[in-house]
Amino acid sequence: MERKWWHDSVVYQIYPRSFKDSNGDGIGDLVGIIEKLDYLKELGIDVIWLSPVYDSPNDDNGYDIRDYEAIMAEFGTMADFDRLLDQAHDRGIKIVMDLVVNHSSDEHAWFAESRKSKDNPYRDYYIWRSRQEDGTLPNNWGSIFSGPAWELDEATNEYYLHLFSKKQPDLNWENEQLRQEVYQMITRWLDRGIDGFRMDVINLISKTPGLPDATVSPGALYGEGGQHYINGPRIHEFLKEMNDASFGNYDVLTVGEMPGATTDDAILYTDPERKEVNMVFTFEHMDLDSGPNGKWDVQPFDLQKLKTNFTKWQVALHEKGWNSLYWNNHDQPRVVSRFGNDTTYRVASAKMLATLLHLLKGTPYIYQGEEIGMTNVAFESIDDYEDIEIRNMWKERIEQGASPEDLLRSIHLKGRDNARTPIQWDATDHGGFTTGTPWLKVNPNYPSINVEQALQDPNSIFYYYKQLIALRHQHDLIVYGEYALILEEEPEVYAYTRTYEKETWYIYCSFAQSDVTVPLVHDTTDPVIGNYDASPIVTDQKLTLRPYEAIVYRTMQ
Ligand code: NOJ
Repeated sequence: MERKWWHDSVVYQIYPRSFKDSNGDGIGDLVGIIEKLDYLKELGIDVIWLSPVYDSPNDDNGYDIRDYEAIMAEFGTMADFDRLLDQAHDRGIKIVMDLVVNHSSDEHAWFAESRKSKDNPYRDYYIWRSRQEDGTLPNNWGSIFSGPAWELDEATNEYYLHLFSKKQPDLNWENEQLRQEVYQMITRWLDRGIDGFRMDVINLISKTPGLPDATVSPGALYGEGGQHYINGPRIHEFLKEMNDASFGNYDVLTVGEMPGATTDDAILYTDPERKEVNMVFTFEHMDLDSGPNGKWDVQPFDLQKLKTNFTKWQVALHEKGWNSLYWNNHDQPRVVSRFGNDTTYRVASAKMLATLLHLLKGTPYIYQGEEIGMTNVAFESIDDYEDIEIRNMWKERIEQGASPEDLLRSIHLKGRDNARTPIQWDATDHGGFTTGTPWLKVNPNYPSINVEQALQDPNSIFYYYKQLIALRHQHDLIVYGEYALILEEEPEVYAYTRTYEKETWYIYCSFAQSDVTVPLVHDTTDPVIGNYDASPIVTDQKLTLRPYEAIVYRTMQ
């Protein structure tokens, strides 16, 4: 496989609203990011992925774009953006933007035109339907943010489709002119000098013609429309066309956010010969703790399922496509609270999880705050939550009679605001994020968990991430080596090997809260990295791992 710069890169995701506020309005901004570039340089990351910074009414914090070519006023100006780009580039850091083109904001100029009349030239940029003859909605699909996926617009007495909030109407990708406008917009950003795109729910852009009804699960209010828009009929054609018309002409990184993509789909999307995208974000490992009723139906973490899932992706894409690797993003709870232990073993388990992920094959993504082991938050009142997904779900389920305590419990475990509380920079008010009032409350554990503390402690999670990033830059084995699962049946240990040319690394990661002994499947015990000070105990070809211990050994043939 031809080598690419993004193969051995590590990406750091910034959610600008929550990263660093430079002007005291309580909202993170571009100047705040510029102030922290040296911090990111110290960590050693190669690429920043910026969640949307475009002009937006913020119904979904920037994932509802009003103008694809203007900067959100709260975040700064285009001049600030250009300065950020230059200053990042000066430090050898690339910048990848978020591309949100499954939908726009309902305040986008295209939608303002589209809704005016049925014969408006922009009408067909969105997906409009009249009600069915029996008076029901155009179809039975539900919105991912609760309620139906259709909203009536009184001007023309027709409904428009919105897979997300009603302020996020879906763009009609069947319309050739819309597609060309999107490609031209992408190209203008690339010409500005950015280094790629993370593509929001990009495998949702092609819908089954006729938008048929979907099956309704027992107890569900709406049909599972995903059957008709996830990996839809023209998706590969659209991505190839987009690649040819825009980013394919540049040496940039593209990663498609693709809920519902299987390994077979991912091979098609990421096979370099097919010229679609470089890699995809799978959701399969993020859904392992969801029950039959979706994400709020929280199930206990099952390590065996995680092993099976990661192994499937590692093996399937080897030499065929490319994986992305992530535990966290702005939509997911904090991993140390989710799959680790955010109390007694917070530091050990955060480092263990980092070891497990960062030695896999693929491009790793670190989400802001993960590098200091930030945890979930448990606000007691629904009023402290800002996320539209949480608020809509709450309203719908309270109306159906759900108990507030049960709902809050699942919000504490799974809500997106767990990831969105502001970065804890130091132990001063609001964690040093802002001198004003933060748009979302800071996690009350900021006096002990913060960047300043991490930078002062040589054993911090931060410096452990730094080591893992540096290892990836030094060793082709991590970037290109073959993966194999070992000790498959061990219930509390995830162990695997990576092999490249004559060298093999053995990675052992314990998820147990007490010591656990496993067979040592190799002779030498030459350690590469581990999360405990002293080496683990090895006797009679057995290895005893301490709580949440991670240890990596290398052997040469
Ligand atoms: C996925 C994004 O990551 C999420 O934050 C957003 O709400 C939806 N797509 C809709 O754009």
